[in-house]
This record gives sequence, structure tokens and C-alpha cells, in this order.
Amino acid sequence: MSTFADKLLTWFDQHGRHDLPWQHPREPYRVWLSEVMLQQTQVATVIPYFERFLARFPDVVQLAGAPIDDVLALWAGLGYYARARNLHRCAQTVVERHQGIFPDTLDALTSLPGIGRSTAAAVLAQAFGAREAILDGNVRRVLARYGAVPGWPGDAAVQKKLWALSESLLPHARLADYTQALMDLGATVCTARKPACLLCPVAEDCAARQLDTVDQFPQPRPKRERPQRSARLLLAQDADGALLLERRPPIGIWGSLWCPPLLDDARLASGTWADALLAPDAESLPPLHHAFTHFDLELQPLRVRLHPRPQIAESETRRWVNLSDLDALGLPAPVRKLIERHYRTEPT
Ligand code: ADE
Repeated sequence: MSTFADKLLTWFDQHGRHDLPWQHPREPYRVWLSEVMLQQTQVATVIPYFERFLARFPDVVQLAGAPIDDVLALWAGLGYYARARNLHRCAQTVVERHQGIFPDTLDALTSLPGIGRSTAAAVLAQAFGAREAILDGNVRRVLARYGAVPGWPGDAAVQKKLWALSESLLPHARLADYTQALMDLGATVCTARKPACLLCPVAEDCAARQLDTVDQFPQPRPKRERPQRSARLLLAQDADGALLLERRPPIGIWGSLWCPPLLDDARLASGTWADALLAPDAESLPPLHHAFTHFDLELQPLRVRLHPRPQIAESETRRWVNLSDLDALGLPAPVRKLIERHYRTEPT
């Protein structure tokens, strides 16, 4: 029975990429340089940069000895400039700590600047033929589908499963080709959108494909629970039908807009509004939900008639306003709609 790796390698021999500049020769400096460039950038973009870099810095010693500005100038356009700084520091560390020879263990490589576990494994597999599993963004997607691994791959527990799956699929030979093949499959067949399952060498064994759920893997980052807040909205009318409005503080929700008193827990605790809330004819209206950027607000409107008009001092920030004068004031749109719904029938 042929394995995942057998099928992938057979496909790679026919359809994989064999003429990438870092494959000839596949030696550590070139493979490392290419892997760092490929961390957030596509192959087609990387190739000319890779060639210019190699022409200017043919080996790690020359790169280590170059001024950082020269390195950054050659990197310009590739983006994520921390990569270029780490690349330079990594070259200097290889020269200082390892006599200019790239180490060949996962621990030593991952202790170098800019080299994470997957990049280290990609260097080891491609340059040394080591039996090390990779798990970059593309491979996470391929394996999440292949194993129908649930959960968001950014989650540590999901990553653990994906690493274990990646390790379990490793062949015992042709590790350099296998590693490139897995990346090529992710980049050209098992793409994020519109994967070409009909061309995939391992589609038959792909768990997501068998369940016809390829589009459901990998699962997206869970939406964060949005904080829920609530407040009373006191719709207080005097005997003439004027509505009590306050100007909101400049900072905070609906900053500087006019609004009926918003009574959150803190204001309710102050006790000032107890009389109004306890008015015998207070009427609860259906709640209003409003989504702010960082939280959801549930507003519980409470309609009360206060007469005689209570002793609430009018000021720059508090007024009784006739309903016909509301349009002249800036009110939050959902509050204005609410007032229109409950107090006015004619369109404004
Ligand atoms: N992405 C990261 N490494 C890669 C490689 N060697 N080939 C293609 N895409 C890659």
C-alpha cells in the first residue's frame, strides 16, 4: 500500500518544482536564505531577490561582514524588514558561534535569530536530508484538511496535533524532495481558496475530502466573545411632553451627543434617579441592542411621565427639550429612531 509520502513524491517527480534556484545546489546557506525570504512571500517574488542577494553575498561570511544598510537595501520591497535584520544577525551568529558553518540540529538552528521550528526543519530536511517535520502556514492547511483536524491552527493544542500528524507522515528517504513536495502541494493544489482536489495525489485518503468538508478546514480563528453591557435609558417627559436630555461626556459612547439619561450600574448606584425609576406609571419599552466596536450594549428604555417637573437642574449639559426641537440637536441615530417610534408618528 502506498503511503502519503509515496504518493506525494510520485506527484512531485512529475508536477513539483525542480528548478528553484535554492535547489541547485541545496546547501545550507542558500536554503536558509530562501526559507527566510519565503516566510511571508511567494516564490515568484522571492526568486529575483534571492539571486541578487547571492550575487552580492555569496556566502554567510560575506553577509555577516556587510553593513546592515546594504542588507536592507537589497531586501527593499520584500517587506517584513525584521526578517532582514534577523537574517543579518543570524549570519553574524553563525560566523561567531559556529565558524561560519550552519549547525545541523534543530536545537542549534532554532536558537538563531529569525529561525523558528518549521524554518529550522525545512533547512535540515532540504540541506541535510534530515528527517524533520515542517509546519508552515501552507502545510497547516494541507494537514488540517488531510486529517480533518478540528480547531483553529493558531491554537496551541491544534498545532500540537498538526505537528504530530506532520511527523507521522514523514518518509525514511528523500526528505529534501518530500519537504519541497509538501510545500508545493500547499502552494499549487491544496490552496486556501478553490483547492484543486481533482489534481491532488492524496485526495483519496484526505479526511476532509471524504466528508466533502474541504472548505471547512482549517477552521477559522474563533470570534472573541464580545463584552455585553447594559444600561437603562430614561425617557422622562414632563407635563408638556418635553423630554429630558443630557449631553454625553466628550469621551465614551456617543461622546458629546444629546441623549436621554443613560443609567448604567454606576449611575443607578448613586441613587439620584431612584424616584424617576420608581414612578408608578414607569413603562418598560422593548430593549434596544447596539453594537459598538468593542462591546454590545443592551439599552432598556423606561418611559415615565414626571409631573410636576422634578427638581432636576437644567444646565449646559441637561435640558428639557420639546419633541419638535429634537432634530436641531445631535442625537445618536438608534436613540433618535427609538424616540420617533414611541413618541412621534409623523416622519421627520
Ligand atoms: N515556502 C517556504 N519554503 C518554501 C519552499 N522551499 N518552496 C516553496 N515555497 C516555500
